Amino acid sequence: MRIDQFIYHSSQLIESSKAGDSARLDAELLLAQVLNKSRSYFYSHPEYLLSDKQLEMAQRLVELRCQGRPIAYLQGQKEFWSLSLAVNEGVLIPRPETEMLVEFALRLDLPANASVVDLGTGSGAIALALASEKKSWQITAVEYIDAALKVAKHNIETAAGKDFSALHLIQANWLSAFARHSFDLVIANPPYIDYHDPHLKQGDVRFEPSTALVSNEQGLADIKSIALQSTHCLRPGGYLIIEHGCDQSQQVKEILNNNDFIEVQCHRDLSDNFRFVSAIKK
Ligand SMILES: C[S@@+](CC[C@H](N)C(=O)[O-])C[C@H]1O[C@@H](n2cnc3c(N)ncnc32)[C@H](O)[C@@H]1O
Repeated sequence: MRIDQFIYHSSQLIESSKAGDSARLDAELLLAQVLNKSRSYFYSHPEYLLSDKQLEMAQRLVELRCQGRPIAYLQGQKEFWSLSLAVNEGVLIPRPETEMLVEFALRLDLPANASVVDLGTGSGAIALALASEKKSWQITAVEYIDAALKVAKHNIETAAGKDFSALHLIQANWLSAFARHSFDLVIANPPYIDYHDPHLKQGDVRFEPSTALVSNEQGLADIKSIALQSTHCLRPGGYLIIEHGCDQSQQVKEILNNNDFIEVQCHRDLSDNFRFVSAIKK
């Protein structure tokens, strides 16, 4: 089969499966992965004939996409900030809205050698993005789940050539491993979805680990733990930044106000939903 025929047929299959709203792009990305070529190659070589093996591999990926598997898992990677991160079904696929927490953190007035912790690092997205911008920050990435820890380790090691020597990964339950006044900044994108939320049965999240998504107490249990533990582990004047669900900003604000934080502020994402809260430890 020719490249242009494959793309045409695969786009139709993906579109009719309702797996996503970018069927042609998905088909091209999956084929690009199999052929190890950029998408522009398809436009200059539409007549290229796929070998049986290439066709079989590409068809298998399209089949999985039609079943709803996220394109990032099928490609095994996702762009976040300026980084290409390896991902698999052991980690959350990093989201563009989380880049806003990174952007916000980079604008804070912190010491040159700030001590920073990224809680629930998953693929390592937040920690690596911060480390790529602030070489002198001492950054710790914390992860609890073995499968995610493995992915974070891989991404940190792969990025090691970029001199991320001040970035350390540890396995721990949130801040339980740290002493009083350890950090100038605690940043976290914790699980915050309620067990009964219907979104868990839709789209990409169906394939993401529930340990990255779901939390008790209407999705607020982990946010509460992090807020409470941060009052101990942050230095006075240190910052806390937490991502949350778009309908949780008032509750998260209240949790922080009740936990020794001041200047609690809610921030919106690019879709204009409240998405994260920042606060300062008294
Ligand atoms: C929403 S994901 C965020 C992943 C990544 N930081 C990102 O933004 O793409 C939450 C992460 O918290 C981790 N996690 C869950 N419970 C934890 C705990 N008690 N301590 C540390 N990490 C935990 C999950 O394994 C998951 O990787």
